[in-house]
Amino acid sequence: MNGQSPLRLGILGSGKGSNFVAIADACAAGRINAVPVQVLSDVEDAGILAQARQRNIPARYLSPGKFRTRLDEVAEQTWVASLREAQVELVVLAGFMRVLKIGLLSAFAGKIINIHPSLLPAFPGLEAWRQALDYGVKVAGCTVHFVDAGIDSGPIIGQQTVPVLDGDTAATLHERIQVAEHELYPACVGKLAHRGFCVQGRRVLGLSPRA
Ligand code: GRF
Repeated sequence: MNGQSPLRLGILGSGKGSNFVAIADACAAGRINAVPVQVLSDVEDAGILAQARQRNIPARYLSPGKFRTRLDEVAEQTWVASLREAQVELVVLAGFMRVLKIGLLSAFAGKIINIHPSLLPAFPGLEAWRQALDYGVKVAGCTVHFVDAGIDSGPIIGQQTVPVLDGDTAATLHERIQVAEHELYPACVGKLAHRGFCVQGRRVLGLSPRA
């Protein structure tokens, strides 16, 4: 660590929260210079909220509004206000099942990251591990990337590979990818917490220590 204050993370998730747990545990153990200050979910009984509460991290269900695949404009403003109130510096999507729109993207421009269970740009979208298995690739993996207005399309921060084995089912491959996710995501958050970065074209380049 270099004496900087820990990077304040706001985590958004809709599911069980295993990536959140990996990040929170890395923060708590002092392996990365970051601190989860707020967990928000669009699913009232999501595992990620329970995981956060067990760790005494503020966790809230916020209504997503009237749409199924995104936050509506009113909800978006509530979510932005909540993240701002907690002075979030980096928004971390961890299994958040809604597409982000301009309200959130512009409020946290260049400060939102996501993890996707494939080696992007291959297999964006849902059940990427199944897409990879059905395609017949021999190497699969996961990607951490900045979030832009597209689907799983922003500049890539980090990737980790796993082999596809002959006996794999969608479930066994997904499990192997999740193990890789739990290493990659904290490592990428740690990098962003430690170093400034810039994006040149699609390339994410590290700079000197974070200002
Ligand atoms: C992960 O597989 C991630 O790649 C995808 O959503 C899943 C979330 O899992 N974006 P969890 O809730 O972190 O366990």
